[in-house]
Amino acid sequence: MANYQKIKGTQDFIGVDAMKIRKFESIASLVAKSYGIKEIITPIIEDSNVFVKNVGEDSDIVKKEMYTFLDKGERSITLRPEGTAAIARCFIENKMYANPGVTKLFYYGPMFRYERPQTGRYRQFNQFGVEYYGTQAPLMDVEIISSAFAIFKKLGINDIKIKINSIGDSESRKNFSNALKEYFRPYINDFCEDCKRRIDINPLRILDCKVDNNKDDTKEIIKNAPTINNYLTKDSLDYFEYVLKGLDNLNIPYVVDYNLVRGLDYYTDTVFEFVYYNDQGQESLALGGGGRYANLIKDMCGVDVNGMGYAFGVERLINLMDNLGLNDDCIDYCDAVIIGLDYESKLEAFKLAKNFREEGIITEMEYASFSLKSQFKLADRVNARFIIIIGEEERINNVYTVKDKKLNTQENVNKNDILKYIQNK
Ligand code: HAM
Repeated sequence: MANYQKIKGTQDFIGVDAMKIRKFESIASLVAKSYGIKEIITPIIEDSNVFVKNVGEDSDIVKKEMYTFLDKGERSITLRPEGTAAIARCFIENKMYANPGVTKLFYYGPMFRYERPQTGRYRQFNQFGVEYYGTQAPLMDVEIISSAFAIFKKLGINDIKIKINSIGDSESRKNFSNALKEYFRPYINDFCEDCKRRIDINPLRILDCKVDNNKDDTKEIIKNAPTINNYLTKDSLDYFEYVLKGLDNLNIPYVVDYNLVRGLDYYTDTVFEFVYYNDQGQESLALGGGGRYANLIKDMCGVDVNGMGYAFGVERLINLMDNLGLNDDCIDYCDAVIIGLDYESKLEAFKLAKNFREEGIITEMEYASFSLKSQFKLADRVNARFIIIIGEEERINNVYTVKDKKLNTQENVNKNDILKYIQNK
């Protein structure tokens, strides 16, 4: 017999685990809506160029991690590795840039990256993301970041830190790139093959190199590299200061991290990541990240619209919530099990179950057995609060026996009052 197994790096979410995902999704969506952000649902598959051209041909995502295939019409299709470029495609295709004011969108769904699977790193994972399209205004950065904090707060996660940096405008990055080229050139033979190539194409990427088998001192070399803050133009510096002031104004805690460059090519100016520090002060994997992209829409369609957004890694957040006991309310439970002790009683029980379910009362029944013991076992298994017993005597007297497992009581309840009785409790 074949041994079927899920694809490496993917996960099954069963029962309570699925509940946690839905809980996250519903809290995050509610908060997003309170900011006037509208939901958007786009396809999981896109023309590969949407990502190749816009996430960056030299980024890890495009170079190594995309699930790309030719469909039967010989078109190159990619399972989306991230949301921003796909949502930008939709924004442009639907001419949303013609809408007045700022367009605010949120999305939720699976993303695919061929990464080395490990805790918190999967090949299929879920993102909850937000994208704003409009003007370049520091207060837009502040609102976007504050919406992410509002989501953390509603989830019950309080000690989140945001690492923030500015990678500046094009001129800032050009100056910085030149400085990095000069700095890294003497050491470049100690770095991985990718970095040897990157030094001429995109030296900023070297700062983000995650390869472990570089020579030992490369981490130190990266640590001592020039930092972007010394190369920002006055406009970019002023902009960043306004953003930080706006965060101070809302009491949003941040750490400026000059080494944060992010791994996607479309960013300009503000970039950030959310991390959590445990009791030992260890930093978590990034729970989410984002930034501004002043040129993405212009590069894609010629219309000059600024964008900014972020995305959370849902599995990482749920894992943190598990560790903090914030998912303890996600439990398998059932409101009522209705027991029928003979064939006629089972039919009556089925009718009652239908009425209960129409009222949203979670109700379970045993289909085959008339035995009290096995039906009690079902009630235990599904964690039922009420057990309603219907036998011949109950049918004749129109009175059901009701056990309340929470209050540890047993009462006889008139058949006509049973729905109200359960609802009131
Ligand atoms: P990203 O930093 O590549 O940014 O991903 C955002 C978040 O997705 C990460 O911080 C992490 O929590 C989660 N994530 C990424 N890869 C994996 C993985 N293999 N397994 C589990 N979780 C993962 C973006 O995707 C940008 N599109 C964010 C953005 C939106 N920037 C502007 N707007």
